[in-house]
Amino acid sequence: MKTGQELARAQQDRWQRAYLADPTLHGAEPSAAARWTAKLFGAAGIDDVLELGAGQGRDALYLARQGFSVHATDFSEAALDQLRLDAQREGLDDRVTAALHDVRDPLPPADATVGAVYANLLLNMAFTHAELRSLVNEIRRVLRPGGLFVYTVWSTDDLCYGKCPEIGDGLFAKGGFAARFFDQALVHELAERWELGGADAYQEGPEPRRLWRVTQAKPAPK
Ligand SMILES: C[S@@+](CC[C@H](N)C(=O)[O-])C[C@H]1O[C@@H](n2cnc3c(N)ncnc32)[C@H](O)[C@@H]1O
Repeated sequence: MKTGQELARAQQDRWQRAYLADPTLHGAEPSAAARWTAKLFGAAGIDDVLELGAGQGRDALYLARQGFSVHATDFSEAALDQLRLDAQREGLDDRVTAALHDVRDPLPPADATVGAVYANLLLNMAFTHAELRSLVNEIRRVLRPGGLFVYTVWSTDDLCYGKCPEIGDGLFAKGGFAARFFDQALVHELAERWELGGADAYQEGPEPRRLWRVTQAKPAPK
């Protein structure tokens, strides 16, 4: 088994190669979660979104088209190059910015400066349990009080769970990528010190993938 650092570097390289090989790796259409999230953020009066693990930007561009101002980050420069190119082509570059960032590092924004954070299929990547907790704490730090965090992850109800080879620390390998499957206990653990708005099971894609869509809010001071 690779150490945490070795696995992280290998995964970054794996994603970079996958994005270089395919300019629309996750398709051109926004995810179901992005469509749902745009409605939620709009109804909450949010106008700025920090997207983590944005990939080539199918969701960042969709959110920008809906009028949000989006700062998208990922640890693949190839993905972000594609995102910037597409934003420019669509004339959305005034509403979408992109920056290279590994979410194992502290998030760049200052405390309580972000309206909403969105992460589609990022938290189920190759993170240790401790890294997940620290990332979620960082997200809470940068959100304004009352700010929203929506994330999606693979669920332990997914058909791959228990069938893909386990590579240690609760992570599984699928097509060269490492992933974690979330059960309800982990969803609830990551919502400690948050207001959990909902953990909704849904399916997406041809296989289909079984997922959780989780909404949690940073409590406003009483
Ligand atoms: C399954 S893809 C989802 C991409 C995008 N959210 C979408 O739905 O199209 C996971 C993304 O997380 C990124 N990622 C994985 N580990 C990361 C890390 N430690 N820091 C930043 N991005 C990471 C990958 O580069 C990849 O773009």
